[in-house]
Amino acid sequence: MNLNIGVIKGDGIGPEIVTEAMKVLDRVAEVYGHSCKYTQLLLGGASIDVHGVPLTDETVAAAKACDAVLMGSIGGDAATSPWYRLEPSRRPEAGLLKIRKELNLFANLRPAVLYDELKGACPLKEEITEGGFDMVIMRELTGGLYFGERRTAEENGVLTAYDSLTYNENEIRRIAKRAFDIAEKRRKKVTSVDKANVLDTSRLWRKVVEETAADYPDVTLEHMLVDNCAMQLVKDPKQFDVILTENMFGDILSDEASMVTGSIGMLASASLNETKFGLYEPSGGSAPDIAGRGIANPIATILSMAMMLRFSFDLDREADAVEQAVADVLKEGYRTIDIMSEGKKQTGTSEMGDLIAGYIRR
Ligand code: IPM
Ligand code: MG
Repeated sequence: MNLNIGVIKGDGIGPEIVTEAMKVLDRVAEVYGHSCKYTQLLLGGASIDVHGVPLTDETVAAAKACDAVLMGSIGGDAATSPWYRLEPSRRPEAGLLKIRKELNLFANLRPAVLYDELKGACPLKEEITEGGFDMVIMRELTGGLYFGERRTAEENGVLTAYDSLTYNENEIRRIAKRAFDIAEKRRKKVTSVDKANVLDTSRLWRKVVEETAADYPDVTLEHMLVDNCAMQLVKDPKQFDVILTENMFGDILSDEASMVTGSIGMLASASLNETKFGLYEPSGGSAPDIAGRGIANPIATILSMAMMLRFSFDLDREADAVEQAVADVLKEGYRTIDIMSEGKKQTGTSEMGDLIAGYIRR
C-alpha cells in the first residue's frame, strides 16, 4: 500500500518526536511491504518563522492532498517566545485551530489509559486505580467557544471582552454518533458531559445526545455535569468508558484525564472528519523547556502513528505491531526520563525510537 502522509514536525520537541515516529513507520513499511510518501508541512511557530503566519493556504491544500497527517506539537514559551508578541490570530495556536476547521476535523479522540508497566507514575492512590482504567475522551473540535465570535472593545469607558459559545444540533449529532459508534466497540457506555444546569448549548447538547442514543440500544448513556466530571476523574476514573463532550470541556478534561494516568508522554490522539482522513498528534504539548535535549518521550507520537495506521489506512495488523513493540520495550525496562523509575533503564528520545523500531515484526 502507498501511504501518502503529511508531516507537521512543529515546534519545541515536535521535530524530535516526529522523527522517531517516522523511524518506526519506515520500519513498519519495510516489514509489511508498504511505501510511505512524506510531505513536510509547516504549522505553528515553524510556519511563522518562514511565512509570518501560523498556517498558509498552500499548507491547507497540501494537507488535503494527503491521506493523513502526522503531527508533533506546536507552540512555544509564551513568556519568552517572539511568536507571542504577535496579535492572537497570528500566534501558533491560531494555526492549529484553523487547520482543524479547514479540514473539518470535528471529532477528537483522546484515550487515557493506565499502563500496567507504568502504574508507579500514576498520582492516584492504589485503591482507586486497582484493576486499571481505560477511557477515551471524544471531544468536539470545530465548534463552541473556541470558534465563536470574539472581540474586545471599550464600552462606556470600560474594556469589555466577548467570546460566544454556539452549537447547532447537527454539530452535536455528528460527534454524538461517533462517540456511540466507538462505545459499541468498547465497554458500551457513554458519559455525556455538559453544564446543562446553566447553559442553553448544554441543554441542546443533552437533548440531541439523548435522541442519538435511541439508535444505540445496547449502549448505556449517562449525563454528568462538567464540574462533577472533573471531580469523578480523580475520585473514580474506572467508571468511565467513553466521555463525550464539547470543545472547551474536552480540552480541560482531557488534560486532567491524561495527568491521572501519570504518563502524558504516552498518550496518543486522533482528530477525524467524516472521511478516513485524520490528523494524529500526541496529547502532550511542545515542551519548549526540554526541546533539543534528546530526552523527550516519543511514545505518544509513535502510538498516534499507530492510530493513523488503524483509522486512516485500515492497517490493523500493522497498528497492533506498533502497539506491541511499545509494550515489549516497556516490558524490557526501557524508560524515557518522564516515566523513569527505580531499577529501569533510562533512554533518550532517539534510542527509544530505535528500540521500538527494532521490535516491529510480523
Ligand atoms: C489542545 C490544545 C489546543 C486546544 C490549543 C493549543 C489551541 O490545548 O489540543 O488541547 O485548546 O485545542
Ligand atoms: Mg488542550
